[in-house]
Amino acid sequence: MSVMFRAMYRLGFTPWDSGVAPPELKALVEGPEARQPGKALDLGCGTGTNAIYMAQHGWQVTAIDFVPRAITLAKAKAAAAKATPRLIVGDVTRLDAMNIGDGFGLLFDLGCLHAIPDERRAAYAAGVARAATTGADYLLFGFYRRLNAFMNPVITPEQVDVLFTKDWELVRAWGGDQPRPEFPGRWYHLKRK
Ligand SMILES: C[S@@+](CC[C@H](N)C(=O)[O-])C[C@H]1O[C@@H](n2cnc3c(N)ncnc32)[C@H](O)[C@@H]1O
Repeated sequence: MSVMFRAMYRLGFTPWDSGVAPPELKALVEGPEARQPGKALDLGCGTGTNAIYMAQHGWQVTAIDFVPRAITLAKAKAAAAKATPRLIVGDVTRLDAMNIGDGFGLLFDLGCLHAIPDERRAAYAAGVARAATTGADYLLFGFYRRLNAFMNPVITPEQVDVLFTKDWELVRAWGGDQPRPEFPGRWYHLKRK
């Protein structure tokens, strides 16, 4: 999988890279129920759009991606934005090996977990649970069915349940085929027990 993502960044084919933070994240950062800034963890941060956004809003951000080129681009974007997230090249299924610390109050994954091979997902979930503080918010987005013949990252609601039910409470899940059937994505907001 890392080979595929490396190739996509090398080719500049990164259709997910919108350059703007999604409203689902903005609601937790700026909305009426905005959380008090603390430590945030961006899992599979790509070129850093959301890490920079959170850092600009007072969060102490650690952001991780396993593609060096993505992190290089993120560092350049952060410098241009005068934001200072901690940007790390690493595998989010091996958080313990990275010594990122714990006590994270906001965890964010937009399109990373659904691309992680099934056999590495439990390690991801264990690392994320260890990194989070009690009461932490975890916002996760994934495709719940294949996007098309070429793109096949998927995580079903049942898989989310199995991975996270021990350590997290599901606050809300939303999304679906409407109004964009070509975009079968689902958001999950979980809270650390
Ligand atoms: C669909 S992109 C989304 C990037 C970013 N979250 C965004 O919304 O712009 C998924 C990202 O996850 C990264 N990724 C996938 N598996 C990973 C892993 N095991 N460890 C670290 N990064 C990973 C990819 O390199 C890619 O940048």
